[in-house]
Amino acid sequence: MSKIKITETALRDAHQSLLATRMTTEEMLPIVEKMDQVGYYAMEVWGGATFDSCLRFLNEDPWERLRVLRKNIKNTKLQMLLRGQNLLGYKHYADDVVTEFVRKSIANGIDIVRVFDALNDVRNLETTVKAVVKEGGHAQCAISYTISPVHNIDYYVIKAKQMEDLGASSICIKDMSGILTPYVAYDLVTELKKAVKLPINVHTHYTSGMASMTYLKAIEAGADIVDTAISPLALGTSQPPTEPMVAVLQETKYDTGINLEALNEVTEYFRPLRDKYLEKGLIDPKVLGVDINTLVYQVPGGMLSNLISQLKQQNKMDKLDEVMAEVPKVREDLGFPPLVTPMSQMVGTQAVFNVIIGERYKMVPKEIKDYVKGLYGQPSVEISQEIREKIIGKEEVVTVRPADLIPPQLEILKNEMKEYYTQEEDVLSYALFPQIAMNYFKSRWEKEYKIEGTLYNEVDKTHPV
Ligand code: CO
Repeated sequence: MSKIKITETALRDAHQSLLATRMTTEEMLPIVEKMDQVGYYAMEVWGGATFDSCLRFLNEDPWERLRVLRKNIKNTKLQMLLRGQNLLGYKHYADDVVTEFVRKSIANGIDIVRVFDALNDVRNLETTVKAVVKEGGHAQCAISYTISPVHNIDYYVIKAKQMEDLGASSICIKDMSGILTPYVAYDLVTELKKAVKLPINVHTHYTSGMASMTYLKAIEAGADIVDTAISPLALGTSQPPTEPMVAVLQETKYDTGINLEALNEVTEYFRPLRDKYLEKGLIDPKVLGVDINTLVYQVPGGMLSNLISQLKQQNKMDKLDEVMAEVPKVREDLGFPPLVTPMSQMVGTQAVFNVIIGERYKMVPKEIKDYVKGLYGQPSVEISQEIREKIIGKEEVVTVRPADLIPPQLEILKNEMKEYYTQEEDVLSYALFPQIAMNYFKSRWEKEYKIEGTLYNEVDKTHPV
């Protein structure tokens, strides 16, 4: 019996994809003990944009969220998503920050760290994987899935083997755009199962309407784990719904072992929450349908809405078609990076600049220059000399692992924020989002000071004692 394992994404990817990551810990808590009893293989609850969102929009400490979830979810493995050397931020961090971040994630309750790199440059996963293994966690290496002349099955097999050699505990095919078609998934999983000994997890989004079919073919080819979301938080730009997946596999050799009645209570809990999000406008009904643009342009749903908002801000919505046609050109110029954070934002912004300014690469954001200099890692295809010189002139391209060029940062960061330090984790929040974390620390301090004034030094009210 090859039982299929289900990872439930309701508390991370599903609400990140549908409602801009705005679900609060308070909204999660009443149902998590029930979810813990369902029989999921894992629950993805942390990482991705949840960290940023907690600090920026919800006035929550992301570390406290993790600890509370761990306390209430005693049996099911907790999973997080980490962007390799970028952690949960948008640039490369020094190895000491990455190692400490992983150590604290696992110490606070994470079992599985799913780690990916936007360029599939496996060197950018090294430090994370080493740290996860050292802390006794499960290092799941994810391959960012994309379509291009170079991203064929052989390419993915090579990446999976590199990840296995690095010490990965499992491999994930991460299709953030929902462009992995069922028959390609079948061939891809078949070849990956031949090439590596590790469990294969398939992760996709419903964006283009194919995702459940893709999972079924992947399962028939031997996939071990699939990611789904409870139905009120599924479909559209989110994952395929959990309940039909469980029902489809029931009493077959792929049975998930999950009881549909147990799932029903989880569904019932999230249904009114979904209505509330729709009413508040947190879920845009537009993201719930089938997005054909994804199939035509291979642009992830989130990237499309970013492009639209950038153009709206500049009153240039009439240029949308031109920008959409420019995106694949920029992507080709830059060596076919997968359109995942942060590359999706970078490629999108460059395409907008190229169209609006009317001359290609006349204006180039710093991030794109850094990328062309090799500071994000190695592109899938070498960038042509012509494009390179247009963007960085005669500047040299680095070929070493980018983080080798970054000196240790942890002690400097600690020094910068020591006045607000109340737990070791705070320095990591500050490392990732200095300004936002600082605002959060200040509001936390004010709140605590008002409630428990005696905790603080009455003479110098800026310093907790
Ligand atoms: Co995803």
